[in-house]
Amino acid sequence: KSFDIFQLRSKATIQARNTLDELGFLDVETPILTKSTPEGARDYLVPSRVHAGEFYALPQSPQLFKQLLMVAGFDRYFQIAKCFRDEDLRADRQPEFTQIDVEMSFCTQEDVIAVAEKLIYDIFTKCGKKIPSSFRRMKYSEAMESYGSDKPDLRFDMPLIDVIDIFEKSTNEIFTDIAKDKKNNRIKALRCPNGDNIFSKRQMKGFEDYVRKFGAKGLGYFQMKEDGLKGPLTKFFSEADLEEIVKVTNLEVGDVVFFGAGDKKTVWDYMGRFRLFLAAEMNIIPADTYEFLWVVDFPMFEVEDGRTKALHHPFTMPKDLNKTDLEEIESIAYDIVLNGTEMGGGSIRIHKEEIQSKVFELMGISQEEAKEKFGFLLDALQYGAPSHGGFALGLDRMIMLLAGTDSIRDVIAFPKTQKAQCLLTQAPSSVDEAQLKELHIRVRKSVES
Ligand code: AMO
Repeated sequence: KSFDIFQLRSKATIQARNTLDELGFLDVETPILTKSTPEGARDYLVPSRVHAGEFYALPQSPQLFKQLLMVAGFDRYFQIAKCFRDEDLRADRQPEFTQIDVEMSFCTQEDVIAVAEKLIYDIFTKCGKKIPSSFRRMKYSEAMESYGSDKPDLRFDMPLIDVIDIFEKSTNEIFTDIAKDKKNNRIKALRCPNGDNIFSKRQMKGFEDYVRKFGAKGLGYFQMKEDGLKGPLTKFFSEADLEEIVKVTNLEVGDVVFFGAGDKKTVWDYMGRFRLFLAAEMNIIPADTYEFLWVVDFPMFEVEDGRTKALHHPFTMPKDLNKTDLEEIESIAYDIVLNGTEMGGGSIRIHKEEIQSKVFELMGISQEEAKEKFGFLLDALQYGAPSHGGFALGLDRMIMLLAGTDSIRDVIAFPKTQKAQCLLTQAPSSVDEAQLKELHIRVRKSVES
């Protein structure tokens, strides 16, 4: 089984090279010993022997190098690139992983998407999978509102349905309070077909414990019986409003409808997770299907605890910087999602120095800091850069989906554990004191010695 996966991986990688070569892309390698890149994870650092107290960072992606190659006139670049990110590991994350990394000049979002679709189509076809040659698209805002996720799994439908306008009229203060702030709060319903017959009372209680783990204050539900909606909360609603709930959620006898209420990010998150959880419990996710989706029109910024961060990275082209509400600014960024997993993503980049400076300013990055971190890119933009954009596909994740396994470790030779250790070589491990001294690192005696 394992050998089959590596055969698949080899086949897919060779096809990626062939397709990109055929499309006129040049395979260029970029440095591994480099400077911090802007993907937003923690860096792996390598101490310099020659420059005491200074460090290289391993690349989180070749992002800035590929942009510089465009400025240098390379026009079409690709690389099967190793990337390094020191972040908390999950079933689909490793500290070192591989991207099929692509960048092109004088292109629009459509041009980039066409290259990505051809690449994915060729790889999947080569690996014996039948898939369409272009994929549907959804705006980020719709993905969040209807599926509570920027990577919706569309192998089954079960969308979240807005019921804030109905709950606003209830006599329950918790709901009417939440409904007062429609910009920041949400009340979402999730219909579970035949749920009343499938799940016991005890299981329903378990569902509430599940969503509480993700910040829910509770999980309300109604049961659809022969004679209408039932459940402890019905007393807060008029007959007409109960009927309205049945109508908008399309309830049939035997269904259960769950609802979550609160601030929008929390509700999206736990209702989105709950949607996946329920689908798994009900066993309704079809096997051997590939549902691709482009999520487009991402917001440029995310404001968290008063800090403005770039949602993709700060080199992504914003659509209109003149909006007063920073969170309403969209960017020309796109993610490719397969069966609810983010397989890749990219954007059209900023190629004008003044827009780049403005973006840094909005993010609260001073001119000095921008110059210190990304000065080489800002300088290059001043020489007149072509418009450019690209994407990166997570190769390991793609193979994981192609092979139908649920752990990224199955598709990587000598993978790391959840604790970022290599079981074979025992890395990371301690090194000689002499080696550390050469690197100007002072040794701290451990407690035992
Ligand atoms: P991004 O950070 O979205 O974009 O990464 C692109 C893809 O790489 C994969 N990936 C990972 N795979 C395994 N383990 C990880 N720790 C991990 N982190 C990311 C995912 C993801 O979709 N430079 C930009 C791309 C661009 O804008 O062109 C970038 O790196 O499949």
